[in-house]
Amino acid sequence: MFGKDSMPEIVRIGLSDRCNLDCPQCRHNSTYHPDRGKNNVDMTEEQIFGIIDEIAPSKPSVTLNTANEPLIAKVFPQAVRRLKEKGIVGTFNTNGLMLTEKLAQLLVEIKFDSINFSVDATTPETLKKIRGVSCLDKLVRNIEMMVAVRGKNLLPRIGVTFVDQPDNHHEFAAFLDFWKTRVDVIRVSSFIKPGAPDISDTCTPMFDYKGVKRTCCIQPFRDIVIRPNGDVSPCVIPSEDPTIVAGNVFKDGGVKAVFHGAEMEKLRALHTAGRWDDVSFCRTCDYWLDSLPIKEERRDGFLIRYSSPYTVFYNVIERMNNWESRLFDRTGPSKNKP
Ligand SMILES: C[S@@+](CC[C@H](N)C(=O)[O-])C[C@H]1O[C@@H](n2cnc3c(N)ncnc32)[C@H](O)[C@@H]1O
Ligand code: SF4
Ligand code: SF4
Repeated sequence: MFGKDSMPEIVRIGLSDRCNLDCPQCRHNSTYHPDRGKNNVDMTEEQIFGIIDEIAPSKPSVTLNTANEPLIAKVFPQAVRRLKEKGIVGTFNTNGLMLTEKLAQLLVEIKFDSINFSVDATTPETLKKIRGVSCLDKLVRNIEMMVAVRGKNLLPRIGVTFVDQPDNHHEFAAFLDFWKTRVDVIRVSSFIKPGAPDISDTCTPMFDYKGVKRTCCIQPFRDIVIRPNGDVSPCVIPSEDPTIVAGNVFKDGGVKAVFHGAEMEKLRALHTAGRWDDVSFCRTCDYWLDSLPIKEERRDGFLIRYSSPYTVFYNVIERMNNWESRLFDRTGPSKNKP
């Protein structure tokens, strides 16, 4: 149960506000946020070490990206090393284009837990529509290079991501087929409408959610999202809106102080009371559907885990031996349940 000493179970950290792409699909892209990445804010080594050292005793799982490209960050190598030195499990999403062999070797050497490459397409034409670039060959080569550098080592667990939307929906079967023999897991996400997630706008909800009564959202009890300037977003959905801030970990006493600060406590109290409509960004959001129980089935050589109507993981059964439960069960039951 959530209490006064609870710490976030999932910590999402943006090491930099920059990205090397401007994907048309991205809910953080410059159409919605014209200043995105223009401020060139990068966390310093001292700042990221301060965060990691504070959260280490509670062993959360850490995602090293928010609305940015993590590999662009100056302190990325230092951050992944420090996480593993402190025994923290980590993952990140990347567009994969800045991955070098040296970085791949580092990730293998430190036994980093998990990497998700965002791919979304099986043809350069579709990649262009969704991610704004046509260099599918380079992306596939980089992912295969990561797999080759891992060799016979167990870690990192390597996945690819497909954000299902009208421009790529027809390629999904081919995507699954192509990647099933190359990586450990394929994540399929429904498109999140910028600012106002609405599952009825997506191509295919991952499972039937109709008739589910709205419930208290788990996000503010379980997660913290830290932007590169230290500002905390109250949850992952408004993370791209810099005007929505629930405190600053560098100025307001650290991660625990902000997680239990007035803004986060107020948000949790409103959700517990069923008053989510009193919160501007919750009123227009149905991402609380992510709080529903997980469903699973085994089919076609996959352990298919439906973690919410928004997300499904196709885990290749033959390659489950690098499954780290603190990362991959994190959409499941939470210690911090309200
Ligand atoms: C915002 S990106 C940041 C990390 C990295 N730059 C990348 O592209 O993987 C994190 C994930 O969010 C996904 N994403 C971006 N816009 C989205 C949207 N509108 N709906 C659903 N997922 C989205 C990306 O495809 C990626 O898998
Ligand atoms: S999806 Fe990732 S790579 Fe594309 S613009 Fe967004 S943050 Fe950058
Ligand atoms: S309802 Fe949406 S915006 Fe509100 S806390 Fe949950 S995920 Fe975040």
